[in-house]
Parts: sequence; structure tokens; C-alpha cells
Amino acid sequence: MSQKHVLLSWRFPTPGPEMVAAEHEVAIWEGDQPMSRQEFLHRISNVDAVFVSNATEVLDREAIDAAPHLRCISNFGVGYDNVDVPYATSRGILVCNTPGVLTETTADHAFALLLAAARRLMEGQAYIRQDRWRGWTPTLLVGQEVNGARLGIIGLGNIGTAVARRAKGFNMITSYWSRSPKPHLEIELNITYETLDELLGHADFICITVALTPETRGLISDRAFSLMKPEAILINVARGPIVDRHALQRALEYGRIFAAALDVTDPEPLRGDDPLLQFSNLLILPHVGSATQRTRSRMSELAARNLLAALAGERPPHLVNPEALRR
Ligand code: DGY
Repeated sequence: MSQKHVLLSWRFPTPGPEMVAAEHEVAIWEGDQPMSRQEFLHRISNVDAVFVSNATEVLDREAIDAAPHLRCISNFGVGYDNVDVPYATSRGILVCNTPGVLTETTADHAFALLLAAARRLMEGQAYIRQDRWRGWTPTLLVGQEVNGARLGIIGLGNIGTAVARRAKGFNMITSYWSRSPKPHLEIELNITYETLDELLGHADFICITVALTPETRGLISDRAFSLMKPEAILINVARGPIVDRHALQRALEYGRIFAAALDVTDPEPLRGDDPLLQFSNLLILPHVGSATQRTRSRMSELAARNLLAALAGERPPHLVNPEALRR
């Protein structure tokens, strides 16, 4: 098989880069920041495949047009909202992702956010570091109870399901909303389907695990916040734009919810002077849901296997657009 040209948009964790380099001619972006759009468009002009982060590289129509030889977009990550999939498909470009290997890690992270926001861990940490701790008081940093509370999961894919499994261990009463009800999971997980409005009105914790699509963009709007309980805590481990950031700001400003914990923001990166950062009951992390050594390494391996299969003319293990194979 002849060597192909592959661009890696980061120094991804091992073993993916080594696997690809063993078979193909590889160019790696060595920067500590994402490459500029101009740089990216320039670098993809002669490649057969790209190994990219779904959080930093956008493969829209413009980028796809800039890469006339492109046959595979291998995303390091499960989401593929960074790719214009219909257009890639029309061009016969295989779009791949890395589901499965990050499910449990991201669900762990959702629970870490849930617990941290409920029990105000970050505020407690800041309190001590700012040397404000003068002694125990009965009302210090009183939070919300997790055990036995109502959890509403928005989107019951792999990660939502893994969150529901964890909730059982905390004796939570769990409901979910997704495009289509999943009765086969309801008995296994002891969860019930609710309409989105019902879920928003009942839940003590609302955990977003749904994919970003035109339908879910801005789903958590002023109206959604107005349905939530004042004690509600919003957790987002999916994509920032699912929550309308201005509505979130208003909700925090007017005390419409108790707290929010976000692993993803709109925009990313969020700057240090962003108005959202004024709220001590908002916990924000820099999109690190899958960031453990083992998971990142598995993602790297899977992204490489996808890419190598595509370049060998085989069906990749995780192909988002099988219709592209027929083109
Ligand atoms: C994913 O896998 O989609 C994560 O959000 C990392 O981008």
C-alpha cells in the first residue's frame, strides 16, 4: 500500500501518532495552541486524512473544499459537531469518532461536577485559600443533598446511560428526556421518561449529555430556566452551546437556580474576564470530561485504527457516515 499524507492537529497522546506514522507520512502540528484557521486550511490542502480534535478543528464546507484529496476525518473524541457530515458524505469522505472508550470516564466526571456543585466544594476550597475560615458555623457552605434527590438526564446515549447507572448507587430518582423514549433501558436503570418540561420542573439535578445539533442548540433557554426549581443544579458535560449563556447568566444573577457546573462552555476557551466567572456558584472546567491518561490513550488508539482502516480501503471500526462508503 502506498504511503498517504496525514495531518495530526496536535501532539496527541500515544499510541495513535506512532501507529499512523508507522504506515504513512505524518505531519504534526507541534504548537501549544490550536493552529490558526489559515494554517489549518493551508496544511490540509495536500493530505489524504486528518487526525483532529473535535474541540479545536472545524471541518466545514470551506475546510473540506480546501482539501481535495481528503478521504478520512478521524476525530479524537465522540462528538462530531465540528464536521459538516452531509457535505463530507457527499464528497465520499469517511468521518470517524471514538465512542465507547470515554463513556465511563465522562460519566465519572459528570458525577464529580454534580457532587462538587451540590456540596459547594470549590467555594469551600476558595474560602480556606482566601484565609476566611475562622471557625465552624452551622450555616457554613450549606449545599444540596444528593442521595435520594431527583436527577433528570437530558439525552440518554452511552454517557447519559452511564450517569444513570451511577445515580442508582446514590439512590437518586432518575428520569430522562431524549428524542425517542428507550423503554428497554427504563427497567434496567430504574428510570422514567419525561417530557423536557416535566423533567426541568421536577429535577433537583439536571445533567446534559445530549449531542449538539440544530435542535439542541440553545435548548436551555430563559424559558427552560424559568421551569427549574430554585434549588436545581445544572450540569453540562456535552457541548457549551446547548445552554444559552446569556440565559444562564440571568438565571445565576436572579438566583433562579442554586448552582451550575459546566465542563463545556460557549465560547471555548472562556476568557478569564468572562462575566460568568463572577458567580461563585458556577463551577467551570476547561472541557476535560475524558481527560484521564488511560482514556486519552484509548481515544488515541481508536482514532488511529479508524484512520488506518479508512486509508486501507476498509470500513473503520467507528464510522459516523456509512453512506460515504457507497460513494
Ligand atoms: C468528545 O469526545 O466529544 C469530548 O467532548 C472531547 O472533545
